[in-house]
Amino acid sequence: MADESQKWVLMVTAQTPTNIAVIKYWGKRDENLILAINDSISVTLDPAHLCTTTTVAVSPAFNQDRMWLNGKEISLSGGRYQNCLREIRARANDVEDEKKGIKITKKDWENLHVHVASYNNFPTAAGLASSAAGFACLVYSLAKLMNVQEDNGMLSAIARQGSGSACRSLYGGFVKWVMGKEENGSDSIAVPLVDEKHWDELVIIIAVVCSRQKETSSTSGMRETVETSALIEHRAKEVVPKRIIQMEEAIQKRDFATFTHLTCADSNQFHAVCLDTSPPIFYMNDTSHRIISCVEKWNRSEGTPQVAYTFDAGPNAVLIARNRTSAALLLQRLLFHFPPNSETDLNSYVIGDKSLMEDIG
Ligand code: ADP
Ligand code: DP6
Ligand code: CO
Repeated sequence: MADESQKWVLMVTAQTPTNIAVIKYWGKRDENLILAINDSISVTLDPAHLCTTTTVAVSPAFNQDRMWLNGKEISLSGGRYQNCLREIRARANDVEDEKKGIKITKKDWENLHVHVASYNNFPTAAGLASSAAGFACLVYSLAKLMNVQEDNGMLSAIARQGSGSACRSLYGGFVKWVMGKEENGSDSIAVPLVDEKHWDELVIIIAVVCSRQKETSSTSGMRETVETSALIEHRAKEVVPKRIIQMEEAIQKRDFATFTHLTCADSNQFHAVCLDTSPPIFYMNDTSHRIISCVEKWNRSEGTPQVAYTFDAGPNAVLIARNRTSAALLLQRLLFHFPPNSETDLNSYVIGDKSLMEDIG
């Protein structure tokens, strides 16, 4: 006869947005703790549009930790999943669900296993920071399940050990990841700069050029860059520190011209160090390059910039328009240059405001 105590399952579901770096993290000084070689700054997207939804479940009937990503089982044996699970388990507390008659003590968590089901509502491993939303959501939902009492700062530091960019997804608005100096990573933390209301005229549009999984993951790409690029040290030590200061100021002042200049320059330099890697890494494709030319020409013809572009480790464009009017004009331009059902059809996601599509007819 089945043991009654084996029958219960306790579940928690959470949703976490992705974030896109405007000054990019590329290169680690510690692969296990995930410590960066430079500071970075990102903007967290509206969770209504690009996000991860993760459900975590615990039951005495589970005999091992298991995870399904977008419906397919994945291995949890990698160090980054194990690091997150271990750090959260170490902080677990008593949990009681009176209605279901469940009582889990702090000690019980050492022997209980979890099942995780996670879905990204946007392309995975295609340069739209799925690892950021994914690990932030994994850590957050596990923490809720295990009644972890730590603040977002601690959860962010744990998420960092899953994927560096994930530490910035625990906060909204513009967020800085301070690389820190300590060997144990204690000062390598995400700091919110301004919340999402500070610069709410900005409209972010994602142009999905290709939703296929990239050939080189961010983790191995940045490892190869650090090992082989002659330019990466100059970028990390000389260029980025100055840009971080200028970017923080531009964000505080809502100075869109400086913001655009820095964002585009940093994206282009990041792709330049990828090209300087041996063998070279090509994250952007011809369509990505055409989007850059289109935005550059438009910004120059207007005199004042209307749109900033940035590309993460993938071909997909993240376009940040100065306001709704520029965003509507941008969509018109994209539809003109990349017509639907043509070879370069863009599957555009409109972020921030669905009525924009109605505006342009
Ligand atoms: P991206 O540009 O999408 O962040 P990365 O190469 O950095 O691409 O990371 C992709 C990897 O992140 C995936 O192969 C998977 O291991 C992990 N990942 C993606 N989504 C999730 C998720 N929802 N939960 C946990 N891990 C995820
Ligand atoms: C280009 O955080 O995905 O998106 O720490 O190895 O998981 P791991 O890498 P990841 O790298 C992100 C690189 C980037 C820039 C950024 O998000 O800052
Ligand atoms: Co990533």
